[in-house]
Amino acid sequence: MRHLIDPLDLSKAEAQSLLELAMRIRQDPAAYQEVATHKKLATLFYEPSTRTRLSFEAAMLNLGGHVLGFPSDIVSSATKGESVADTIRIISCYADIAAMRHPKEGAPLRASRYSRIPVINAGDGGHQHPTQTLTDLLTILTRKGRLENLTIGLCGDLKFGRTVHSLIKTMARYEGVRFVLISPEELRVPDYIIKDVLQANNISYTETHSLEDAMPELDILYMTRVQKERFFNEEDYVRLKNSYILTREKMGLAKPDMAVLHPLPRVNEIALDVDDDPRAAYFEQAQNGVYVRMALIMMLLGLTDPKTGKEVSLC
Ligand code: CP
Repeated sequence: MRHLIDPLDLSKAEAQSLLELAMRIRQDPAAYQEVATHKKLATLFYEPSTRTRLSFEAAMLNLGGHVLGFPSDIVSSATKGESVADTIRIISCYADIAAMRHPKEGAPLRASRYSRIPVINAGDGGHQHPTQTLTDLLTILTRKGRLENLTIGLCGDLKFGRTVHSLIKTMARYEGVRFVLISPEELRVPDYIIKDVLQANNISYTETHSLEDAMPELDILYMTRVQKERFFNEEDYVRLKNSYILTREKMGLAKPDMAVLHPLPRVNEIALDVDDDPRAAYFEQAQNGVYVRMALIMMLLGLTDPKTGKEVSLC
């Protein structure tokens, strides 16, 4: 049995197979509507979510399966003091696969150690968000036709943004990828990512405070929200929340085929008039989240791909 806790839990070859399956699903979703009949997905969300929880649920429903779960810790027995370990032992009796979001870093990993069903990390604190990364990869691949030889700008809250940490770890495996890290000093990428991922693997990167200076060289601009919920005081959040606002005017500095991604939700960091720019890929990215989660559920459960007649599984 396999879990997906860290983006690197999938080898590069496995990630490639998953993206290929997601692209087959994207081309013909109706062909997949009965592949998970009688299977149940539990969504265990201890922290708010719109996209991740509902796209997981939509994914399982699209595959013909069923969903159960809780959208918040306050309606679960966590409020009575139940541990994550005990909860997953119980959920293993009720469902075939579980997706867990938790404010504590490492909670899904802990759950996986006590689970009899595959556990998917749907975001743990400021740490990792591997299924968002798969969503990002599918969006980059469909927009640019490749995952190699790209200059990727990451802008905003690079300290607390778990989607950024997962994306850097994953994209660092592809040839010729360069990162431009755009943030205020207080929200720089954590040292462990710089040292253990970028420097350890000899990945090219630069750090800057200026979005405008970085724009002309980017193939991908990955905007992020300043993560209010991870700040220790409101004053710091208020000071930093509008550090970067992507406007139509700033888009004028970018390459004509640059793609703008954002894991969403957006607060203020992308002006509404950018939405009509053909380079804005963030709503398409949210749609891609359904296809990659359908593919992931199929692979973790070892289901049969009706297009090939073969069982899809992780090696
Ligand atoms: N991208 C993302 O994780 O969104 P939600 O918080 O709405 O799930």
